[in-house]
Amino acid sequence: MANPSILILAGDGIGPEVMAEVKKIIGWFGTKRGVTFDVTEDLVGGCAYDAHGTPLTDATMAKAQEVDAVLLGAVGGPKYDVLDFSVKPERGLLRLRKEMDLFSNLRPAQCFDALADFSSLKKDVVAGLDIVIVRELTSGVYFGEPRGIFTEGNERVGINTQRYTESEIARVARSAFELARRRNNKVCSMEKANVMESGILWRQVVQEVHDKEYADVELTHMYADAGAMQLCRWPKQFDVIVTDNLFGDLLSDMAAMLTGSLGMLPSASLGLPMENGRPKALYEPVHGSAPDIAGQGKANPIACVLSFAMALRYSFDMGDEAARVEKAVEKVLADGVRTADLMGPEGGVPVSTSQMGDAIIAALDASL
Ligand code: NAD
Ligand code: IPM
Ligand code: MN
Repeated sequence: MANPSILILAGDGIGPEVMAEVKKIIGWFGTKRGVTFDVTEDLVGGCAYDAHGTPLTDATMAKAQEVDAVLLGAVGGPKYDVLDFSVKPERGLLRLRKEMDLFSNLRPAQCFDALADFSSLKKDVVAGLDIVIVRELTSGVYFGEPRGIFTEGNERVGINTQRYTESEIARVARSAFELARRRNNKVCSMEKANVMESGILWRQVVQEVHDKEYADVELTHMYADAGAMQLCRWPKQFDVIVTDNLFGDLLSDMAAMLTGSLGMLPSASLGLPMENGRPKALYEPVHGSAPDIAGQGKANPIACVLSFAMALRYSFDMGDEAARVEKAVEKVLADGVRTADLMGPEGGVPVSTSQMGDAIIAALDASL
C-alpha cells in the first residue's frame, strides 16, 4: 500500500519555524515507528506571491486536492499589507479552504494541567477544560456576494454579505453532532438570531437536524455575544460549540487564551469523504504568522505539532499515535519546558522553538 501523502505549506513568518518542528516529528515516525509519509512541500501566502505573483498557484491547488492531508503553517505579514486584496497572502488560504470544500473546522481548546495557572482566567475556571469549537469555514460573510468597495453618490461603501444556505448549515451541524457523540454529547449552537435572518435560519436548521437525526444529543442555542461572555465566565459548561465562519474565528481566538496561549491551539479543517472514505483535510495552527516574533526562534510550535496529531487521528486513522504526540506535549509542559509565550510574570528562562521541538522528540522517545 502506498505511504500516506502529506503536502506541507509552511507559509510565512513563524509558519516555517513551527513547521520545522513538525518535520522533525514526521522524521521520528519514520525512524522510530516505521511509519513513513510521502511528504512534498510547496509555497502558500506571501512567499508564493514573491515567487509566482500569486498567493497560491493552480499547480499547488491541484496538489492539495490530491494528497491525503495538507499541513499549513501560517500566512501573511506586514510586507504584504500594500498588495491588492485579490493577491494578499490570506487569499491563498481562503482559496484552499473553499476549493477543497473544507466546511467543518474543528478548533479544540484544551487546558493542559501544567498551564492552568497560566491562563488570564482563574485556575478553577480553566483547569481540565476540554471543548471544541466547530467553525463553518467555507461560507458566510467570508464568501457571500455581493462584496466589494463601491461608490455610492459621493462616498465609498464597503459591502460583505452574510449568506447561508440550508444545506451549508445542515452539514456543519451534522459534523458537530457526530463529534459530540464521540465526546460528552452536548452541542451549543451560537448565532445572532435576534438581529440576523441568517441567524434565524441557522437556529432553525440546527434544531431540525437535531430533532430528526440527533435527538440523543443535548442541544442548546445561544446568541454569539452572550456565548462569548459565557466562554469567559464558565467555559467548562460547553462540550462542542457550533457556529458560523466569522463568529467561529473570533470565539476560537478567545478560547485560545483559556488554554494559556494562542500558540497552543491546533485545528483541523475537514471536507467531504474522498474515495478512501477519509475526509479531505487541512491542518493548521489557529495562530497567524506572528510578525512581531518571526525569525527570532521564539515561536511556540505546540499548536502546529498538535495540528499534526489531529492529522494522525482524522486523516491517517492513527488515533494511538496521535495520543502519543499529545501525551509527549503534556509531559514536556509538565516538566516545565516553556517557550516565551508561556512565561508568567515570575519569569524564567524560555526555550527556543527548536528546543521545544527537541523536548517533544525526547518525550516521544521516552514513550517507546
Ligand atoms: P497572530 O496570530 O499572528 O499573532 C497574534 C499574537 O500572538 C502576536 O503577539 C504573536 O506573537 C502571538 N503568537 C501567535 N502565534 C504564536 C506562537 N506560535 N507562539 C508564540 N506567540 C504567538 O495574529 P496577527 O498578528 O493578528 O496576524 C499576523 C498575520 O497573520 C496577519 O497577516 C494575519 O492575516 C495572519 N494570520 C494568518 C493566519 C493563518 O495563516 N491561519 C491566522 C491568523 C492570522
Ligand atoms: C484564521 C485566520 C484566517 C481567518 C485568516 C488568516 C484568513 O484568522 O484561520 O483564524 O480569518 O479565517
Ligand atoms: Mn483567526
